[in-house]
Amino acid sequence: MRINVITLFPDAVSDFLSWGVVGQAMKHKIFQVNTVNPRDFTEDVHKSVDDRPYGGGDGMIMRAEPLKKAVDSLGEYAGTRVYLSPHGELWNDGLAREFACQFKTSNLTLICGRYGGVDQRFINSEVDRVVSVGDYVLSGGEIAALAMIDSIARFLPGVLGNEKSKETDSFANGLLEAPQFTRPPTVLGQNVPTVLRGGDHKSIDAFRAALGLAVSRERRPDLLASDDDRLWREMCEILRTVPAEELRTCGLSAESVNSIYSSSKGL
Ligand code: ADE
Repeated sequence: MRINVITLFPDAVSDFLSWGVVGQAMKHKIFQVNTVNPRDFTEDVHKSVDDRPYGGGDGMIMRAEPLKKAVDSLGEYAGTRVYLSPHGELWNDGLAREFACQFKTSNLTLICGRYGGVDQRFINSEVDRVVSVGDYVLSGGEIAALAMIDSIARFLPGVLGNEKSKETDSFANGLLEAPQFTRPPTVLGQNVPTVLRGGDHKSIDAFRAALGLAVSRERRPDLLASDDDRLWREMCEILRTVPAEELRTCGLSAESVNSIYSSSKGL
């Protein structure tokens, strides 16, 4: 997989990608990231990539020509061109999987805006898709591009040390993952739930699945496709095999724990 990033800050993008599992994956040539700076495609002495907005207003706007030349310099390696902007379709785990699959064998170019945005005419004629990483405004597309690359890379074979984790991580089944613990068994006055220390993997899997659902119901009810009462009652039964205090240690609110314990209907 080859990802091109059009950015005024190529060093910031390359530096960030050199760390952690993504950096290792790039060293092992599982995927490549190539940066292109639109400033290298300016012709004036000031190397200006931006100009004042027509109609007035705050901020400067990125000019279309240097961006187009930067993309054109990639020739056939440009592939699908994605512009990062709050106007785009919202990025999520499903799209990360889809992109990892689609661009395994074809190229992707991520175009990062800066300042007050990019001349719309460049977007109209040179961009295939617009993606947003959330309903907030970043000072540029670089952080959004990095979030996309990082989340795509996790789905490429060989990137994660443990290939199973992408199937159990949050959102893998549409829900949040159950909270995790490591040694020591008691820290900050709190004990690891006993079931997780017992070595009974059937019980551990059942507990984690029930806990993932409980955490999702409490924190991200929007992730639940439908309120499946029967499933929730079954999950509550599993959760009630764990002491209330241990459920609190798992990050569930007192309200959630009370409702798991006080009614067979659950939350
Ligand atoms: N550029 C500025 N804000 C952004 C966002 N929320 N998503 C993608 N690109 C952006």
